[in-house]
Order: sequence, then C-alpha cells, then structure tokens
Amino acid sequence: MNTDFIERYITENFSEKRRKHTYGVRDTAVKLALKYGADPEKARVCALYHDMFRRASDEHIEECIKKNGLDPRYRGDADLAHSKIAAIYMKENMGIDDEDMLNAVSYHTTGRADMSVLEKVVFLADAIEPNRDYPSVGMLRELAEKDLDKACLVLLERTEGYLRTKGRTMDKDSIEAREYFRKVVESREMDNRELAMEAAKLLDLKKAENVLVIDVAEKSSFADFLVVASAGSERQAEALADDIEDKMAELGQNERLCEGRKKTGWVLLDFGDIIVNIFSRDMRDKYDLEKVWGDCDTVKVETEE
Ligand SMILES: [Fe+2]
Ligand SMILES: [Fe+2]
Repeated sequence: MNTDFIERYITENFSEKRRKHTYGVRDTAVKLALKYGADPEKARVCALYHDMFRRASDEHIEECIKKNGLDPRYRGDADLAHSKIAAIYMKENMGIDDEDMLNAVSYHTTGRADMSVLEKVVFLADAIEPNRDYPSVGMLRELAEKDLDKACLVLLERTEGYLRTKGRTMDKDSIEAREYFRKVVESREMDNRELAMEAAKLLDLKKAENVLVIDVAEKSSFADFLVVASAGSERQAEALADDIEDKMAELGQNERLCEGRKKTGWVLLDFGDIIVNIFSRDMRDKYDLEKVWGDCDTVKVETEE
C-alpha cells in the first residue's frame, strides 16, 4: 500500500515526539503482526494513520459528529475522537475500505470487545512502542510477546486504574473490552476436563445423541479428552460442528485441523488436548470409540428433564 501521502504528512505536520511515537507504533505493530498472524502491511499502514488527528480541534470533532454521525460522546474529547476521525479520513479521503484496518484505527485508543488480531496488535503497539515510558510498560512489553489477550486485559485494567486516580471513568468500549478479555483469559484457564464437559453439554443441548466424555489422558499421547456424539443427519452434524467451533473459540480454544468434514459420517474437531468427534449413527457403531477406550473413565452427558 502506498503511504507516501501519510509519511509526508507526518514529516510536515507532526512534532518530533509524535513522529517518533508513530514510527515506534509502526515498528511494534509490524513485529506483533508477524508474531500473531495479522497482516504486517495492514498493521504498518494503520500505525502510520492512527494519530493523524491527535490534535483535532473541537470544531473538527463537531464537524465529524454532524457529517459522519460520530457519537456525540466524543464532543470536545480529542483523546477519544482522534481515533474515529482518522478511520473516517482513511475511508473517505484515502479510499481505504478494509473494515479490519478501519476498526484497528478506530478502536486504537479504547479497544473494544471481540477485537480482531490486527485490532489487538495496533491497540497494544500504541501502548508499548519503545518511546512509551510509564511504570508498567516493561511488564506489558514482555506480556505482549507471550500472550496478546492477556496483554490487552492488563493494559485495559491499568488504564482503568489510571483514569480512576484522575477521577475519570473509562469509555464504554473499553469497559466492554475489559469484560471480554477477562472472559477470554479466565475461560482459557479452565482446565481441559471442564472444557470437554462444556463441549459435551452444548452437544447435548443441541440434540446430539448419546454424548460421552472419555478421559484418555492416561492412555493416549495425542489428547486428554475425547468428546463423542452422534448426529441424526449430515446436516445436523455440520451444524453441531459449527456450534462447537463457536463455543470453543469463545472459550479461547482454537481448532488445529478438521478432518472428515464433508459427508464421511465422521466430523473430527481437534482442539489439542480435547478432540470432539461427531458421528453419523452408522459410523458411531462402526468405530465404536467407547469400546476402543473401554478401560478409560467415561461420563455420559445427559440433560436431566
Ligand atoms: Fe492515538
Ligand atoms: Fe498513538
């Protein structure tokens, strides 16, 4: 993506401090993007634009509220409004219509619930780039190297604490983001047995048949728990697989690979320590996992009615 315009703008209009900050955000965002699988080029471009309107005047903000339907809560608040105005500018004036990029710039100050990887990368890079200097920045930099979600959570909690000392409250997008990341981090710390049970309960709730959780931790090197269920039809199996993917993603578990998804009568969803198997009735009988793992602890999951 051509960034001649914004780079010239930065050279001609930014203070030295803001210029250094912007390039610091760019380098950090690119590094984090490469590490966590976001597009580094998108991260670079977002970083260059992110503080373009950091010094937006009240008149400029007012104009954006009127013209672009910007939320009136940003009135007179350049600290928050500059992110929104930059995203609007990228779209309207630079023809950038990539939603993910626009969101990454738009939410770089507050964060929000359910951020994409690119959004998290830009949000964090803004806070931890090398020119930033505040007491917990070293710890945040280390955390960002290890755990993007946890780093976002700690940053939001830290921001909330800081604002509190100033007698201010956090923007509602940040509050929702903090709640979201708390949930993500907490559920990731759920143990594998609980996670397997969550998956099994969902399958049962969605009318899968004969739902079992088999504890194979002692006997197998590839997983700790197998969740096994049968579906009455191919369509139901597909729908159940989609539900499980959503639920597990919500719990911070991402699938490693997916086998036999289409019309084989066996959908296998691999979440590392937990493997969810959804069979057609025929295939369930054929493979008979209960028998294969007959000497393992098995829990049948059934809704009491
Ligand atoms: Fe900013
Ligand atoms: Fe910034």
